[in-house]
Amino acid sequence: MSIERTFAIIKPDAVEKNLAGKIVAHIEGAGFRIVSIKKLHMTTAIAGGFYAEHSARGFFGELVAFMSRSPCFVMCLESEDAVKKWRDTMGATNPANAADGTIRKLFGGSVGENATHGSDSAESAARELAYFFAGLELL
Ligand code: RTP
Ligand code: MG
Repeated sequence: MSIERTFAIIKPDAVEKNLAGKIVAHIEGAGFRIVSIKKLHMTTAIAGGFYAEHSARGFFGELVAFMSRSPCFVMCLESEDAVKKWRDTMGATNPANAADGTIRKLFGGSVGENATHGSDSAESAARELAYFFAGLELL
């Protein structure tokens, strides 16, 4: 294990419910350092580009509409083994299947509107961080 960075989003559903502060507190409580955080409102083009790997999936249109519906918070998180640790901290994609105490169990509404995003590999994290952050924002 080594110190690593990952990319995270507090998704529109959680921001709409005023849960961003609680989720940030949960992230800090879990031992992550927040390297960078900013609020933004994705266009459909930005959301579609971000989730391009899912463009052939039946839920893609719904996912793009959801992610561009209202503002989100994008973050760079740092810790030991950050990619896996953040996926574990979020819990399963479907909140109904997420373990007790995970963010998606606590704050997620449905499989589509599940409160947070996390990169699924170190390669994805590097690509996703570069998609939303300039180098100067990650020093
Ligand atoms: P994420 O990329 O957002 O961290 O989520 P994930 O890895 O756990 O799940 P993934 O398979 O990458 O799916 C991306 C996002 O698409 C939405 N989704 N909707 N309606 C559906 O069946 C469905 N399945 C996935 C969710 O917002 C999911 O997080
Ligand atoms: Mg994913």
